[in-house]
Amino acid sequence: MSRSAIRVRAAVERMRPYNPPLEGRTDKLRLDFNENPIGCSPAVRRALARLSAASISAYPEQETVRRKAARHFGVRPDELLLTNGTDEALSLIVNTFVEPGDTVLLVEPTYAMYRFYSELAGARIAAPRYDDEMCFTWNNVLAELRKDPRVFFLPNPNSPTGNLLSRPELQRLLNAATRTMVVIDEAYFEFSGVTVIPWIRRHKNLIATRTFSKTCGLAGLRLGCIFTNRELAGTMRKAQSPYPVNAAALAAAEAAMADRAFIARTVREVKQSRVAFAAGMAKLGVRCFPSAGNFVLAYFGERAKRIVAALAHKGILVRDRSSDFGGEGYVRVTLGTVAQTRRLLRELKAIL
Ligand SMILES: Cc1ncc(COP(=O)(O)O)c(C=O)c1O
Repeated sequence: MSRSAIRVRAAVERMRPYNPPLEGRTDKLRLDFNENPIGCSPAVRRALARLSAASISAYPEQETVRRKAARHFGVRPDELLLTNGTDEALSLIVNTFVEPGDTVLLVEPTYAMYRFYSELAGARIAAPRYDDEMCFTWNNVLAELRKDPRVFFLPNPNSPTGNLLSRPELQRLLNAATRTMVVIDEAYFEFSGVTVIPWIRRHKNLIATRTFSKTCGLAGLRLGCIFTNRELAGTMRKAQSPYPVNAAALAAAEAAMADRAFIARTVREVKQSRVAFAAGMAKLGVRCFPSAGNFVLAYFGERAKRIVAALAHKGILVRDRSSDFGGEGYVRVTLGTVAQTRRLLRELKAIL
């Protein structure tokens, strides 16, 4: 075959590579990807140790866990899909609803994978931005919604800005999105307490997603959920591969859902850390934006690069998000235990 016979899709040719710093992180204090720096429940590790050769060597069966997850999240089993992390959920949503040339609406800066999967599918991106105070720009978003984009991806709370829309505000968006599939990504729900899952029967154009990567600390196993009305869930299952979730993730999920004390402890620690971090940063004179997640966006100005590098030298990873804002200075910090946060603040004080 001649080389010219091999053609890459135009949408892939057009994409910019997404190169987050993915490697060499395990032995560090990882405050860069909003994982759970506390780890995972000991019950999860016991469940993984109990995995039999039979369950490892067979293709995974997910029905039992799907039913338990439905009970855990307060929906019917046929309103829930298990996915290979939220990322697969996003890909599945795009594969189900977006044709090349369709418009996908995002409010940026936001989680990078919405744009990634949409561009991969050949979609056009409409992306109004959060304002300088990291507030939601209602007029711009409502104007875009009036153009009937195919899908609107909105994480609530948003990352990296941390801001949260209230239930009435979400209702206002849904009222405006009459011909758009609205996807509310609730990756950080446990830290904010605001959810739209109870609305999935009422709004036929609503999808919610959740993940086991954050509060449950299962990022390495890849497990997420889609919640939507029965009819749409059935349609999306048609577009999903038969074994999206592996046996280890299924065993871990059961144990993680059962250990509510671990989830409660994580949420308590993170909320205490949020207060301690805000107070510590105020003392250091560094601006932080209010956050409803397990992370905070801080503004270090011109010192940002040097600070991120100096912290890495001390074994603490935080994420320079300056490229999201088109200017130097924005760093996102994940929150774990209060002790971890105090260590971070001590190092920051020394560096500054
Ligand atoms: C808003 C948001 N959604 C989803 C994810 C990823 O979730 P998962 O690990 O389930 O793919 C992240 C990770 O940082 C995120 O910030």
